[in-house]
Amino acid sequence: MGFVENKISSVIELCEDPTPDPAGIIIFGASGDLSFRKLIPSIFKLFKNRKLINFYILGVGRSNLSDKDFRERILETLNFDRDLVKKFIDHVYFLSGNYDDDNLYINLKEKINILNKKHNAKNNRLFYFATPPNVYLPIINHLGKFKLNEENGNFARMIIEKPFGNNLESAKKLDYELHKYLNEKQIYRIDHYLGKETVQNILMMRFANIVFEPIWNYKYIDHVQITVSEDLGVENRIGYFENTGLLRDMFQNHILQLLTLIAIEPPASLEANMIHDEKIKVLKSIRPFEYDTLDEYVIRGQYTDGYINGELKKSYMEEVGKNTNTETFVAVKMFIDNWRWSGVPFYIRSGKRLKKKLSEVSIVFKNVPHSIFSDFYPVKIEPNSLVIRIQPDEGFKLILQAKQPGSKMCINTLNMEFKYRNFFDYEPQDAYERLILDALLGDQTLYVRNDVMEESWKLVTPILQRWENEKSDLYYYPSGSWGPKESYRLIEKDGRRWRDYENI
Ligand code: BG6
Repeated sequence: MGFVENKISSVIELCEDPTPDPAGIIIFGASGDLSFRKLIPSIFKLFKNRKLINFYILGVGRSNLSDKDFRERILETLNFDRDLVKKFIDHVYFLSGNYDDDNLYINLKEKINILNKKHNAKNNRLFYFATPPNVYLPIINHLGKFKLNEENGNFARMIIEKPFGNNLESAKKLDYELHKYLNEKQIYRIDHYLGKETVQNILMMRFANIVFEPIWNYKYIDHVQITVSEDLGVENRIGYFENTGLLRDMFQNHILQLLTLIAIEPPASLEANMIHDEKIKVLKSIRPFEYDTLDEYVIRGQYTDGYINGELKKSYMEEVGKNTNTETFVAVKMFIDNWRWSGVPFYIRSGKRLKKKLSEVSIVFKNVPHSIFSDFYPVKIEPNSLVIRIQPDEGFKLILQAKQPGSKMCINTLNMEFKYRNFFDYEPQDAYERLILDALLGDQTLYVRNDVMEESWKLVTPILQRWENEKSDLYYYPSGSWGPKESYRLIEKDGRRWRDYENI
């Protein structure tokens, strides 16, 4: 008993997040939506959990705010113990200015020096780019000009929000500019899906258990499905979304990252570069999309009006106020041409204004080679599936067949289900909290390396080009549905079907 207790307490210690070195967190675009919705609450949680002791937050933005104004807005937004929030905002400051104006950076440098002394933050700097991407380059160039990128025994790291470029060319250009002043170890390309608990669990599940690995290949897996659906539309981000579309917004980054974790070979260790090396192999093995046959593999859609939870929602075009071809839905069929995945289709769908918010990966296994039950149970045996629920209700489910109690050998489907919240004393950590802490700790495992980012842009380039140059069909779907009919055809023509979410 004593041994078990000791083991548990040492495991708990081992599993505690380390405390990062003192640092200043400088947020460009600090008065924007992302900052108030995600970044500041996540940093506050780190403070609440005593991960931040000697630190300051310096918000930078075009809004004309004083330290006091910014603090008051935070006080209004953070819905936590007020006394603690008051202590937190003693660490918070604001600097206004234009991103292409030298004066902003002269003031920034001065303010950083003052705050370093005031908060014992050494001269460690974590810059967060939460601005619209069109000002990334002026900021980077000015940080370089005023030597705010230099480390000299301390750290200077930059978290770059997506979209990282708008296509391969612009992503490479941005990367080139970043590398003029920074080395790869200073660059943190964020993809918040990688910070989600269940996404991280994919590696643990695959490589800390012996039972899955022997069957995790083309011999036993029939196909893989990924659904990432949202019931929300584009809300107040129409300007951004109109120039982006769903392929760039969700597929090029979050979904491809998820897919690589499902598909990678066991990395030699958990060291960041080992994982990135394996991811790159997967991305390079994905069969490229061909311009001419694209419509057989990629379906794009756009929502029309319809009901979600009894409420009538407008069509995308009504929201934008003009005719537009921007896709709010994509369904894709793809193959990974390597020894493990040869011939196994990956079906992916993602969209806005679908019936509900849900992200799930289903590994659908092959059928038993022969049913000995067929004489008295002439119904096809459903294949086994492993369903990884990324959100909500994080967990996973193994779908098996079992005997239905009774005198006959009748089969029924059994769901062996594990839900995080039932098992662990677990308050879901926001992905940003995990990722900001990792950046402060200098851990790039859950960030996207430059070659991985480039390879994923390469993959979507033929799709983007085809959509830009030639009319490819755009299929409409009512808000509150599961997407256009053609997305069903994509999978059903292969004799398979999307997992049924109607009764879940
Ligand atoms: C963002 C996209 O990266 O991810 C949004 O820009 C999308 O359009 C969001 O709504 C989805 O994230 P989550 O964590 O809510 O699934």
